[in-house]
Amino acid sequence: TAAEKSGYKHFMLKEIMEEPEAIESALVGRITMEGPLLNELKEFNVENVEKIKLVACGTSYHAGLVFKYFLEKYVSVDVEVDVASEFRYRNIHIDKKTLVIAISQSGETADTLESVRLVKKDGAKIVSIANVVGSTITRESDVTIFMNAGPEIGVAATKTFVNQLVVLYILGMYILKSKNIWNEELEKDFQFLKKSPNVFRKILTTINLDEVSSYYKNYHHFMYIGRGINYPTALEGALKLKEISYINATAYPAGELKHGPIALLDPTFPVFAIVPKDKLFEKTKNNIEESRARKSRIIAVTNESNKELEGVADDIIYVPDSPDDMYPLTISPIIQLFAYQIADKRGYDPDKPRNLAKSVTVE
Ligand code: G6P
Repeated sequence: TAAEKSGYKHFMLKEIMEEPEAIESALVGRITMEGPLLNELKEFNVENVEKIKLVACGTSYHAGLVFKYFLEKYVSVDVEVDVASEFRYRNIHIDKKTLVIAISQSGETADTLESVRLVKKDGAKIVSIANVVGSTITRESDVTIFMNAGPEIGVAATKTFVNQLVVLYILGMYILKSKNIWNEELEKDFQFLKKSPNVFRKILTTINLDEVSSYYKNYHHFMYIGRGINYPTALEGALKLKEISYINATAYPAGELKHGPIALLDPTFPVFAIVPKDKLFEKTKNNIEESRARKSRIIAVTNESNKELEGVADDIIYVPDSPDDMYPLTISPIIQLFAYQIADKRGYDPDKPRNLAKSVTVE
């Protein structure tokens, strides 16, 4: 009913608008004067971890990829991320220094649960990151870090993706702190997390994607690109668009375009570039220029102080300046709202996408 949706047309939109409060709930007790804290992991001796295997499906998998880029930047811990339907049929090597992290909003995804059971047999310690209290994964893992996003009704994950990112950043920071790794950049990231609810409030009250989504709603294909820690955002942006608007969207690390997908580009095939001004900016900008040379239209998401895409991209969506590591967070509401608006304008109900379920409890 309309009341359940607090006056919003769809749960998906309501849940995107709830992101500031959702983040606040994810931060409670975990942001302290001494730094990031995860009481859940007290017994885990994370300072000894040398390898991390992350397993998840769909949107949760994309959150895991962001974690990999983030942690590997600061420490030589090998982080491997796999989709659960692959992980469960591989031969995973676990030793005492390996930590397994399973991410599942619902805590009921069959492939993720089977992956947990599989490595448990090998004696692995398992941390799950879940949203639903009492869900199966919380009983089968050694410890659960709850994302505290509140109930999510919309099939396409939105606020839970944001909270997965928040929890994973805290987890990464907690591991780094435990290993005595900390620097100015991490301190800035940490301070940014603290104020991120307000950053989200600003984004969600000022953003207007009406015109841009009306313009693009009738295209049949999209190419999402990004590099480094912003590549997972490209994957998630394409997934959101596919899930609810049924537009064929594909995502590539921008540097890989030249190895195949650039052959697809022409005026009918827009490029959606995730391109904040970080150390890879010039590289991605080159990839945008190559796409333009094929006459693709370009929509770029970048940070507001960066004006270098004017005249390069056809449409630019700005987000507040953020520390480099944090753009996956600040850009997430943009890709969600873009997909939402397009689905709605195409006349589809984004809360109930065809062929999809909120949690997939069969293989
Ligand atoms: C389904 C949902 C996706 C979700 C995925 C993993 O496919 O439609 O939105 O990302 O499952 O769900 P989980 O609950 O394990 O995070």
